[in-house]
Amino acid sequence: MVHSGRHFLQIPGPTNVPDRVLRAMSRPVVDHRSPEFAKLALELLDRLRPIFQTSGPVIMYPSSGTGGCEAALVNTLSPGDKVLVFETGWFSHIAWRRVAEKIGLDVEYVPGGWRHGVSPEQVEARLTGDRQHTVKAVIAVHNETSTGVTSRIGEVRRAMNRAGHPALLIVDTISSLGSIDYRHDEWEVDVTVACSQKGLMLPPGLGFNAVSEKALRAGKTARLPRSYWDWDDMLKSNQAGFFPYTPATNLLYGLREAIQMLQEEGLSNVFHRHLRHAAATRAAVQAWGLEVVCREPLEHSSSLTAVMMPEGHDADRLRDVILARLDMSLGTGLGKLAGKVFRIGHLGAFNDLMLAGALSGVEMGLRLAGVPHRSGGLMAALDHLAPAHQHAEGAGLPT
Ligand SMILES: Cc1ncc(COP(=O)(O)O)c(C=O)c1O
Repeated sequence: MVHSGRHFLQIPGPTNVPDRVLRAMSRPVVDHRSPEFAKLALELLDRLRPIFQTSGPVIMYPSSGTGGCEAALVNTLSPGDKVLVFETGWFSHIAWRRVAEKIGLDVEYVPGGWRHGVSPEQVEARLTGDRQHTVKAVIAVHNETSTGVTSRIGEVRRAMNRAGHPALLIVDTISSLGSIDYRHDEWEVDVTVACSQKGLMLPPGLGFNAVSEKALRAGKTARLPRSYWDWDDMLKSNQAGFFPYTPATNLLYGLREAIQMLQEEGLSNVFHRHLRHAAATRAAVQAWGLEVVCREPLEHSSSLTAVMMPEGHDADRLRDVILARLDMSLGTGLGKLAGKVFRIGHLGAFNDLMLAGALSGVEMGLRLAGVPHRSGGLMAALDHLAPAHQHAEGAGLPT
């Protein structure tokens, strides 16, 4: 089938890249050892800090998010070190447990049911019991992209402090940075891992580590082998605006524009926009008579919503119908949720009408694929969005 108009990319990343960012990247390739490039890199290394809510260093790699995960581990830990990885879904397994095991760490995978975030109580109990301080790092995914559950990292940190345990706290913000409030310094996170293709509204290709003083100190004695990911080499070169190897030059022009857009909107407005779209999406899901994966109201993700299919109906068949007939991509179910769940991404460069279009697509798709549901999900979402529009009129803004 030939489609006209824009494809709807509603997966929870990679997300839609705004035209402004595409234009910023669409330029001749620059010499990455030139003064012009160094100026750009120094500007970015500084302007990234507020996005992570940190005053410390942020490291940029030409990599996907998984590269950032590996970098966090190899720079802070030694072979055989014990780390606690909290099971929240597919990404706690594939990006953390598996990577950590492959590089020679002793992983304790703390079981979780995929419908809740990391339990601060469990963190406290496990660390309080570790009197010898054998655990070297606690690893948590802030926003579990496979389930749409956001862990309460501030509470996890408080639990670690109550236990008086010195383990590092390493957090994956791959699908939350720039979409969901996240505070590297205030929550005393040691390494925050992020990447370009989600809330930062860029194509894939940049991985990030925001790093605490304590993590830098841990790096001095960490013995896992590292070369490409070595923070020391990177930080030394970065001082003059350079990299130890060829950086992703054109993506960095896009990053400058994306940061500019986030600043123009204001980070707190960006977070509020995501909260509102997520709540409207849940209103739609509820009206359809379907269920979201996340069971804890305090942990609903603002960047995506994972929806359970009715018993006996395949989520991937629904996704196929929606792609073929309506030209919209939805996220697939991952791991044990394959076929059981579809995911609606509502993060990054996104607005009310895009959400209305996406939810119309889901509602039309449910009908086309013969999935039992009640109609009215779109209307429920619009009702949820309406008060903000009424407020705008009441405030005397142009109509
Ligand atoms: C929470 C989370 N962690 C890790 C990853 C892996 O990132 P990448 O595919 O960019 O390597 C993803 C990818 O979507 C993710 O959502």
